Amino acid sequence: MSNWNVKKHVGAADEQPEHHRLARTLGWPHLVALGVGAIVGTGILTLIGVGAGKAGPAVILSFAIAGVICACAALAYAEVATMIPASGSAYTYSYVVFGELIAWIIGWSLILEYSLVVSAVAVGWSGYAAGFLSGTAFALPPEWIAGPHAGGILNLPAVFIIAVVAFMLSAGTRESATLNAILVVIKMLALALFVAVALPHFDAANFEPFMPFGFPRSGAAGSEVGVMAAAAIIFFAFYGFDAIATAAEEAKNPGRDLSIGIVGSMIACVAIYMAVAAAAIGALSFTRFAASPEPLALILREIGSGWAARILGASAVIALPTVILAFFYGQSRIFFTMARDGLLPQPLARVSSRGSPVRITIFTAVIVAVIAGLFPLDEIAALANAGTLAAFVAVCAAMLVLRRRAPDAERKFRAPLAPVIGTVGILGCLYLFYSLPAKTQLYFLIWNGIGLVVYFAWAQFQAARVRRAAA
Ligand code: ALA
Repeated sequence: MSNWNVKKHVGAADEQPEHHRLARTLGWPHLVALGVGAIVGTGILTLIGVGAGKAGPAVILSFAIAGVICACAALAYAEVATMIPASGSAYTYSYVVFGELIAWIIGWSLILEYSLVVSAVAVGWSGYAAGFLSGTAFALPPEWIAGPHAGGILNLPAVFIIAVVAFMLSAGTRESATLNAILVVIKMLALALFVAVALPHFDAANFEPFMPFGFPRSGAAGSEVGVMAAAAIIFFAFYGFDAIATAAEEAKNPGRDLSIGIVGSMIACVAIYMAVAAAAIGALSFTRFAASPEPLALILREIGSGWAARILGASAVIALPTVILAFFYGQSRIFFTMARDGLLPQPLARVSSRGSPVRITIFTAVIVAVIAGLFPLDEIAALANAGTLAAFVAVCAAMLVLRRRAPDAERKFRAPLAPVIGTVGILGCLYLFYSLPAKTQLYFLIWNGIGLVVYFAWAQFQAARVRRAAA
């Protein structure tokens, strides 16, 4: 325990000066809602089509594989988050367990993850919003609902929804979390409706041939296929529970509430996804919905339930912003914590009189809006996955190291079979990373190369200055 650098962060929240401290306003129902709100989104609504195009009906296997790996990571998160209930998620755990350099790398990966998830889901939202508005007086011209990669100018609805969510967050955390809970219910009801309407059309013939593109990632760069290539994309659908961990400093009772929030929301989502994926593939040949920007709505239309497609589309438009909200929220907290440690410019860590970091929110909004406005969904999502996988590896490793280094430390939540869970989590994430498109892996390495230059040229000196000033 003695060489365990935990004091710096455990309880650190309450030792921070007033303008650097977040208010403790969230209970476990808020956290479960935040978790489900962050998990269920563009992954199941849109990327299920991309996954089916890569794996065929075996995309259901991709869901199961990504789900098991995420469940391992969720258990590790719950254990480590309740031991170190301070803002900053995997960044903070890495700081405590592995030191500043690894923490920087993980923080830098989290910035990529959270930013790109906000962008990706905004693009997904735009697809549903554009579909919903088409045929009405508010229909937008095609060049304003796609980026240049698809022959458009700018994805305007994606930029718009990011601006709306940024405004909500700036108005205060508590209000956003409560509104989030209401919207989560709408999203769940819409998915339940999908399963109820699609399931009677289940045809086992749609599962043949089951694995037309094989199991491992294969194919030329840019058009990778296989069950694992699909799992590496579908992985996007499962994460989001880590956004709860970033709310640790604002949880009323972090020990109990974080474990309920993380594990509960993960289990709920795995069950829902398996039902939706089985119903979708059973109802319609995957070849007919794989390329659709709104696959679930398309399936409902094709089986003659246009009314249900409209309800699903409207629910997506209303409720997808909960995902944007949760990741935006998590993003601002990662920035906040890194800035507080001196690794990012300190003025970013200032919170307003309402307890929300307005400057970081606006700064983040501008960047993610540019990305959402100009780039394609699958590429954004794949790169977000790369950042997330790095963070998950770090958290699983942190759990294993803490079990050895501090075996007797109090654990409000203990992951069952920790050595197995931790090892499966790490190896599974590495295999998913290997299964990502080659281009994504390259972009991720470039991002981390830039991160290391920033660290060695600026951040480490700045952080040392902040530490000296605090001593
Ligand atoms: N899991 C979230 C989604 O699917 C990121 O939208």
